[in-house]
Amino acid sequence: IPVDPFDLVIFGGTGDLARRKILPGLFRRYCAGQIEGDVRITGAARGEMDTQGYRDFAAEAIMASDQSAGTKKAHLDEFLAMLHYVVVDAMGDDGWEELARITRSDRIRAFYFSVAPRLFGPLAERLHQHGLADGQTRIVVEKPFGRDLKTARELNRVLAEHFDESQIYRIDHYLGKETVQNLMAIRFGNMLFEPLWNSQYVDHIQITVAEAVGVGGRGDYYDRAGAMRDMMQNHLMQLLCLIAMEPPAKFNPDSVRDEKLKVIRALDPVAPDDVVRGQYEGSGGRPSYRNQVGNRDSTTESFVALRARVSNWRWAGTPFYLRTGKRLKERASEIAVVFKDAPHSIFGEEAGRHRNILTIKLQPNEGIELGVTIKEPGPGGMRLVDVPLDMTFAEALGPEEADFPDAYERLIMDVIRGNQTLFMRGDEVEEAWAWADEVIAGWEKRGDDPLPYATGSAGPDDALMLMHRDGRRWREIK
Ligand code: BG6
Repeated sequence: IPVDPFDLVIFGGTGDLARRKILPGLFRRYCAGQIEGDVRITGAARGEMDTQGYRDFAAEAIMASDQSAGTKKAHLDEFLAMLHYVVVDAMGDDGWEELARITRSDRIRAFYFSVAPRLFGPLAERLHQHGLADGQTRIVVEKPFGRDLKTARELNRVLAEHFDESQIYRIDHYLGKETVQNLMAIRFGNMLFEPLWNSQYVDHIQITVAEAVGVGGRGDYYDRAGAMRDMMQNHLMQLLCLIAMEPPAKFNPDSVRDEKLKVIRALDPVAPDDVVRGQYEGSGGRPSYRNQVGNRDSTTESFVALRARVSNWRWAGTPFYLRTGKRLKERASEIAVVFKDAPHSIFGEEAGRHRNILTIKLQPNEGIELGVTIKEPGPGGMRLVDVPLDMTFAEALGPEEADFPDAYERLIMDVIRGNQTLFMRGDEVEEAWAWADEVIAGWEKRGDDPLPYATGSAGPDDALMLMHRDGRRWREIK
C-alpha cells in the first residue's frame, strides 16, 4: 500500500548509512510501489555538492547494493528525480532557509539524523529556529543513543525541548528485521507456545548475534564503545525484551513498549562473574583488533557474553545467556528457547536425553525451527532421535514472499506512516543504559582486560564456562 507523499531530509545524506542502507532501501520501496507521487528526498550534508552530484552518488550506491538495479533503469531514473541536495551546516546558518523553502509544511516532513550524536541537539535547535519543527515533523534518530545513562538522558532532554515523544523515532534496526517481528507473531498468534513460555517449562534461553566481520573502518567509534555498548545494550536487549515480555493488550506502540520496559526493569544486576569479555587476535593475514583500531593498548571488548536474569513471576529461575562478537566463526544470529527435559522418560535411560528447542533464526537464513523428538526410523527398537521441524521462510513461502524488505526500508516507511511500535521510547533506552552501565562499572572496577580469542572461533573459552558451570552448552555457531 503506498504511503502518502512526504518530504524526507537525510542529514548525513552522503554518509555511510545513507549509501549502504537508506538510499538503496528507499529505492526498493519505490520499486515495490510504496513510494509514489510528489515525494521529495533531500540529502543534506556539509560537503559541497549539487543535486545532480547527489543523484549520481545515489545511483552508484543503489547499483552497489543491488546488482539488478541497472535493469530497472526507468525506475531508477524516476526515483533519482525525487532526490535533491542541500548544503547544510548543523552548527551554523547555511542551508536552513533553503530547507524550509523546499520542504512542505502541509504534509509529513521527516528528518533523518544520520549523524554523530553530538549534532542531535544543534539539529533539533535549528529545525525549531527555522520553523521546521511543527506538528507534522518527525525526527529519526540513529544509534548510538548516548554512551551511558547520563548522556542518553541528556539527548532525550535536548530532543524533548523541541519535539514531543510521539515525533521521535529512535532506530534500533534489529526491530525492523523480519524474524524479529515474527517472534511476536509466533508468541502471540499461536496457542501452542504461550502456555509453555515460562520458567516451569523453559530451561534457559540463548541469544547469539555472531558476526564474521571485524570492526572495519569504524575503529574510532568502536574502540570507544565496545560490544557491550554497540550491540548488547540495544540489539540483544531488544531481542531479550521481545522474548521475555508479557503479552501486550494490543499491538500498538505504547502497549508493546510498556511491556518491554517492564522486562528491562525486572533485570537483575549482572554479577561480574557472569560476564566474559573478549578481544580478537589476528590470524591468517587478518589484523588483530588492536591493529585494526590503531590502539596497541586497547582494552575494549569485541566480544561479550553474559548471563542475565529476569526477576519476575514468569522467568524466575530461567537464565538468559547472551553473546555477541566480531570476527567469530560465521555470521549467525539466533534465539534459542531450550525447553526442559520431559519429567520422566518412559523409554529408559538408553533413549538418551532429548529436549525441544525452538530456534528463531535471524540471519543469514531467516526462519524458525522446532526441534522435536521422534522414533528413529527402522527396526532397531525404540530409539529416539531429534529432528527439526523446519520453517525456513524461503522454502515455506516461496522466494518471492520471502524477499523481505531490509530492516531500514520497513522502519523508514513506518516513520512516514507514523507507527512507532518498532522504535524505542526514551524511557526504554534510559533503562537499558542503566542496566548496561552497571555491567560496565563491574568490569571497570575489577580492572580486568578482555580475553584474547582467535579470529574464526566462537569467542574466548571462558564464555563456554559461563554455561558449562550451569551444566549447559552454547549452541554451535554455524
Ligand atoms: C550495528 C553495529 O548497530 O549493527 C555494528 O553498530 C554491527 O557494529 C551491526 O555490525 C550489525 O547489524 P546486522 O544487521 O548486520 O546484524
